[in-house]
Amino acid sequence: YTNTTETNMNKGLAILVNKYYSLPSKYAPDDIVKMSNLYAYPNNSIRSEVYEAFKEMSKAAKEENVTLIVNSSYRSYDEQKEIYDEYESSRGKDYADKYAARPDFSEHQSGLDLDIFTTGANMKTFEETTAFSWLRDNAYKYGFILRYPKDKSDITGYSYESWHYRYLGNDLAKKVYDSKLTYDEYYAYYLDK
Ligand code: DAL
Ligand code: ZN
Repeated sequence: YTNTTETNMNKGLAILVNKYYSLPSKYAPDDIVKMSNLYAYPNNSIRSEVYEAFKEMSKAAKEENVTLIVNSSYRSYDEQKEIYDEYESSRGKDYADKYAARPDFSEHQSGLDLDIFTTGANMKTFEETTAFSWLRDNAYKYGFILRYPKDKSDITGYSYESWHYRYLGNDLAKKVYDSKLTYDEYYAYYLDK
């Protein structure tokens, strides 16, 4: 969080949000829609384009007997602040910064990412489910990438999150997937112009 700048919002779906590039102060997208209980736990909402993509992905997964359920989605500035503050007050700043983004620095506030679980899974167990392996092989086909991969916390700034999927649209998601880079690196190499 040293030398932070506001991210280039003209990049649309490709915006980079991390510990260096923030959203505009108190940013809120204007096309947030409520998600049905068929696809998400109660009280989830997301940008409509991301919802359409998730529904398509979820239906494709279902055909292979894989259930995807959204656990967390769009979070307002205030909601993100609450989560961060809770981690910080219970475990301290260093811990909080590994697991939660500060408000204005979270992809959740951008409305472009979803935390995806399957029935009965939690943060610890999701990685071992068939839903996780299905997403590993297929998410990019629907425009999503795993945003905080294992062993990449030096680059992403966050602990491994097997459940956090960023929506980039189909074309860009495929390119990022094929590159095997984190989105932070891909953006720096190819998009930051
Ligand atoms: N857990 C991710 C980093 C967030 O809070 O946006
Ligand atoms: Zn997340």
